Amino acid sequence: MKLGRFPPAATFVLTSLLGAAVHAAGDPARGADIFQQNCSICHSKEPGQNLVGPTLFAVVGRPAAGVADFPYSAAMRGSGIRWTTSQLMAYLKAPRKYLPGVKMAFAGLPNEKDRENVVAFLATLRTAPGSADSAASHSSNAAQAGYNDR
Ligand code: HEC
Repeated sequence: MKLGRFPPAATFVLTSLLGAAVHAAGDPARGADIFQQNCSICHSKEPGQNLVGPTLFAVVGRPAAGVADFPYSAAMRGSGIRWTTSQLMAYLKAPRKYLPGVKMAFAGLPNEKDRENVVAFLATLRTAPGSADSAASHSSNAAQAGYNDR
């Protein structure tokens, strides 16, 4: 009787499944791009700055409709939810299906990975603007790559 080896394909499937589980938390750097492309037209990440939508500074952990000077819909004010990461994951999939009556004119992010990444980015919006050195290192990378800031 001959002992079989693990077929390489099975080993590959196993390691990719494990890899997916390990990386489920989301990548804030990718999330920053998703925010830029999908959210920044209506939302600022700076404290106190409301656009069409309320600022998303420090949104993770705060109650829905928690920005004092923003005119939220009755649906958002009455939702009674708190923006935990899992609540954000559910809301951002299809905002107006999840909370009928909210006035966020955005269809949603159907891709789970995109949502994980953008929520991971939102969770970084806690420190005062300018205190993180990521912006500085980012622009020096851009300079080395030959990009101009505008
Ligand atoms: C077309 C404009 C628009 C876009 C695009 C948009 N939003 Fe909104 N968002 C709003 C408005 C307006 C509200 C307030 C909704 C209400 O009061 O019913 C809101 C509310 C929210 C809230 C609740 C905030 C709070 O203080 O309770 C979160 C969280 C949120 N948006 C996240 C996002 C994210 C993340 C994206 C991008 C993936 C996004 N939004 C894209 C307009 C937008």
